Amino acid sequence: MVVEELETIFREVAQKLGIETPSMRIILSNRPDLCDYQCDEAFKLAKSLHKNPMEIGNRIVEEVRQLENFADYFEQVELVAPGFINITLSDSFINRVLMTMMEHEHFNWKPVNPSQTVILDYGGPNVAKPLHVGHMRTAIVGESIKRILTYAGYHTIADVHLGDYGLQIGEVIYGIQKENLRVEDITIQDLDRIYPAMSALCKENPDIKEECAQITKQLQEGNEQYHTMWKKIYEVSCEDIRGIYEFLDVHFDLWLGESDAHAFIPELTQIFEKKQLLQISEGATIVNVSKDTDKKEVPPLIFQASNGSYLYATTDLATILDRVKQYHPDKILYVTDSRQSLHFEQVFRAADLAGLAPYSTFEHLGYGTVNGSDGKPFKTRNGDSPKLQSLFQQAREILISKKDSNANMSDEDIDILVNAILKFADLSNNRERDYIFDIAKFSDVVGKTGPYILYTYLRLAKIIQGGESFSHKLSKNIYNNYDRNLRLKLLEFEIAFQNALDDRMPSYIADYVYDICVLANAFYQNNHINGLEEEEQKQDWITLLTLTNKMIREMLYLLVIKIPTVM
Ligand code: ARG
Repeated sequence: MVVEELETIFREVAQKLGIETPSMRIILSNRPDLCDYQCDEAFKLAKSLHKNPMEIGNRIVEEVRQLENFADYFEQVELVAPGFINITLSDSFINRVLMTMMEHEHFNWKPVNPSQTVILDYGGPNVAKPLHVGHMRTAIVGESIKRILTYAGYHTIADVHLGDYGLQIGEVIYGIQKENLRVEDITIQDLDRIYPAMSALCKENPDIKEECAQITKQLQEGNEQYHTMWKKIYEVSCEDIRGIYEFLDVHFDLWLGESDAHAFIPELTQIFEKKQLLQISEGATIVNVSKDTDKKEVPPLIFQASNGSYLYATTDLATILDRVKQYHPDKILYVTDSRQSLHFEQVFRAADLAGLAPYSTFEHLGYGTVNGSDGKPFKTRNGDSPKLQSLFQQAREILISKKDSNANMSDEDIDILVNAILKFADLSNNRERDYIFDIAKFSDVVGKTGPYILYTYLRLAKIIQGGESFSHKLSKNIYNNYDRNLRLKLLEFEIAFQNALDDRMPSYIADYVYDICVLANAFYQNNHINGLEEEEQKQDWITLLTLTNKMIREMLYLLVIKIPTVM
């Protein structure tokens, strides 16, 4: 790969010059008009050696230029004031690396060794409550991060962590009893009706809310009648939830939830008691997780509420206990709304204090809010969070209204496009930021959208016709700048992917695949492959576009986006 090979060359050169340095970092050029890559180490070395960066840079550049195999790698290596080393790659080096990318899985990405286990906690739907747009974010972002980690060589385990034992269950049971429904007759329509009504009622009436909380508590303590009702509610709701994830192409290895964590609470309590971490405060049992160094107050974690019930943080801790014992994970990642960051800070600290797992095991990957055009959280006209299914429907209608030809698309292709529209819009936004839900913009084929990427892919597929076999070996040539720019962008895969992996940022993949599509379109518009007389050039270009499309397809896979047959 480019960076590693160049770093090795520069490190060896430095050694030859007697310059002690642990690294010679090569980065992408920030002046692509001047060079392809650059090395800024002369500045750092100048400081430690008390010399002028130009002097050090000059010695390095001179030495590199003396290398016997200089032309295998470089077209030019130059020093520019006040000490930048500018690197222009030789065509043969570019093509050699492209060939290794063609020959190896995952474009020659070297997997982590030995493989580490990462548990990803995302999705987090709540049984008996309709899924809203936030649940789409966690599902898509989480699935994408999982795919990126798996692609990089990690052993990943995805857990949906259902919210299936909270207050909403008590509310729905209360509502079912009120309506005198027979347990075996409960349908998803009943749940969709009962939950919002009961939730509103509880907000108005604290006595009823208390009653619902008691039902939840009795359920958690093993009340059989409630357990039977819970089981039916769970089944009906999960069937609906599974359908949504199926549509989104989001998959979990484990379908565990808060209810499963309850079995581990006695053991968890023992561990916390042994370490003397539990304190009584105003009737509740709490864990003090604050530190002297805290700039902002971190309040105690509530281990057990004063009415005896266990809340969100305790089930999360019990889940950690279970996960650590079963899977020995190196990392546990949580993808939720950023507004839950304090909750996770408390949980991670408590887990560390109790010795369940060191603090560094945990990462909370927060995401921003999906807003409406008014910049406030996206709501339907009557002020509710829109149900996910109605969002899918909206995207579908816009899509069909846009182009007559879309009306003839197969249902499957339309579903694929709806997915692409929503997912690319979501994932191309830096996950930590809020974004405005604008379905018309998201579904445009012009601009940074899912349809634009898919359109590019299908267009290239028509030229290259046929699979992704690389029987032709690239010649040493690069024919013009459109060509060169596209080749260089393909080489950037290692950088884009590493950054996305390190920062858990699918948006870097989205940026990268978009850049590729822009350059591929420019290449295509300015180079007419079909009219070419030169057979070698023609084969080179078809091979280049074949690699380009393979890259687009694999990056789309990481973004959980499938490719339709036609558009
Ligand atoms: N059910 C929660 C919600 O809807 C999300 C669960 C996230 N995962 C976790 N381990 N706490 O907000």
